[in-house]
Amino acid sequence: MQAYSDNPLLIKAPIGQQPYSLLPTSEQAQVDDLVRLRKKRRARRFGHALVSTLCLGYLVYLASKYTGIFHHGHCGDSVEHDVVHTLSGIGYTIPSNVSLVHCVDGTQDRIETTVDSSQDLYESRSSFQLPLDSATIFLVSRGQNLHGAISVVTSEDQEVDSAKVVVSLYHTEKSQDWAKVCLLSRGQGENGVGIFTPIGRSGHHWDRRSLSYSIAVILPALDSDKPLQINNLETDLPNTSHHVGDLSDVLFDRISLRATNAPMNLELLVTDSSSVITTNGPITGTLHSSLQSVLTTTNGPIKVNVNLTSTEQSNATLIAHATNSPINAKINLLSSVGNGGTFFVSTTTTNSPLSVDFLTSPVDSTLHLVSKTTNGFASVALDPAYEGSYDIATSRYLSARVHHKVPVPEDPSGKGRPREGHAIGSRNEVRGEIYWGRYDENRSNGTVFIRTTNSPVLLDV
Ligand SMILES: *[C@@H]1O[C@H](CO)[C@@H](O)[C@H](O)[C@H]1NC(C)=O
Ligand SMILES: *[C@@H]1O[C@H](CO)[C@@H](O)[C@H](O)[C@H]1NC(C)=O
Ligand SMILES: *[C@@H]1O[C@H](CO)[C@@H](O)[C@H](O)[C@H]1NC(C)=O
Ligand SMILES: *[C@@H]1O[C@H](CO)[C@@H](O)[C@H](O)[C@H]1NC(C)=O
Ligand SMILES: *[C@@H]1O[C@H](CO)[C@@H](O)[C@H](O)[C@H]1NC(C)=O
Ligand SMILES: *[C@@H]1O[C@H](CO)[C@@H](O)[C@H](O)[C@H]1NC(C)=O
Repeated sequence: MQAYSDNPLLIKAPIGQQPYSLLPTSEQAQVDDLVRLRKKRRARRFGHALVSTLCLGYLVYLASKYTGIFHHGHCGDSVEHDVVHTLSGIGYTIPSNVSLVHCVDGTQDRIETTVDSSQDLYESRSSFQLPLDSATIFLVSRGQNLHGAISVVTSEDQEVDSAKVVVSLYHTEKSQDWAKVCLLSRGQGENGVGIFTPIGRSGHHWDRRSLSYSIAVILPALDSDKPLQINNLETDLPNTSHHVGDLSDVLFDRISLRATNAPMNLELLVTDSSSVITTNGPITGTLHSSLQSVLTTTNGPIKVNVNLTSTEQSNATLIAHATNSPINAKINLLSSVGNGGTFFVSTTTTNSPLSVDFLTSPVDSTLHLVSKTTNGFASVALDPAYEGSYDIATSRYLSARVHHKVPVPEDPSGKGRPREGHAIGSRNEVRGEIYWGRYDENRSNGTVFIRTTNSPVLLDV
């Protein structure tokens, strides 16, 4: 059942287009009639507890490390409570904030094809056009035994004012009508698509074989020098691998990709703010970000190339957090005005090596870096433009080493200033400072803080 995930047909094949606003009135009535909200207090309480725990954990985590330096606007705002909707007598969990506009039903809404009748596998495909200027375009799935793949791509064939969402559901003959694919709305001008399977508590013996889906989000490829601007794209898709294509011509003000148990691969994503969260899977790829990027996974490595741009209006923040897996980040710090800029970078993991490499940084910029791991080699290489202090340490008897680049790099400002520095420390801890030229009241005071245990730590300056 893996073949679906990179199904090239999904994007190429002609797809029956359905203007999203044209809802057959009979079906709308049916949906309205069937959608009876029965608040599920237990789920809600659990949701509250979970949100509180997650937020608290996150705040403690931030507070302990940066005491107020970082902004954190994404705590709680994308974690929604679920409620139970009943459709055709079957219970489905659906995020409470979301309204069902229309659920796909009957063959006029979808294209049925037989994938492999000997294996009882069928595909049911439906598609939606969402306004491109939506405040948010969102994709959500809920239920049981569901897993899938999503890809976000651009296409020259896509209409310039809408995003097409194509959902292919792979099901058995019996399970065809259990899964619901629905057009959703939320808040003001937020449009989405949801995939829901029954919660399985209502005594219905629906086919337990798992259902899978693939989603393609197709954005227009504009023939223009300016990037296509998207306000907000949000996914909340458990068990779903994410692939973001080369979206160098798209600028997302905000993007939030949330999955579990699956990889996140970003070929090239350009955003002001981004949040990429998964579990048990890697986060890989290339990201250009200006305000804030948060990458979080567990039990999966993070291997990313990041261009982090600080503008006159804003500092730039990157947080990469993993557990039990390596972090490997190559970072270009950039300033929209050439020089200066303030950057906050945090890379933390456990039980694994950590490697952070600053390939470029602007003259007179300020970097605040926290890199932490345990039981793994921690290595950080700063760009020669770095000015400020550092503090690196590991467990007793292991080595903390500061390596000075040889030959000594030239002053990146072109003023020919000498590299000045001093350090104190012991075998397993070194603290020091490094600057260009003599004391100057305007010189940047960056901070670099690196920790590991039971392994060496190395800082290259
Ligand atoms: C519902 O959505 C609105 C805006 O989309 C958001 O501000 C609010 O926090 C959400 N509420 C819940 C419970 O998720
Ligand atoms: C995710 O996958 C696991 C294992 O296949 C399954 O038990 C679980 O129900 C799935 N979660 C959802 C939300 O479908
Ligand atoms: C990312 O930064 C590198 C180094 O400055 C630069 O060569 C590359 O063009 C940047 N990419 C973009 C798309 O800005
Ligand atoms: C950037 O960070 C510095 C240091 O914390 C702070 O003084 C400054 O106000 C910040 N600038 C912006 C635009 O947020
Ligand atoms: C950096 O620190 C020094 C010493 O504390 C201070 O004199 C200088 O003004 C600081 N630089 C900036 C840009 O704040
Ligand atoms: C520091 O910056 C201020 C304001 O830009 C400037 O007036 C001053 O001359 C600078 N000091 C040095 C030593 O460059």
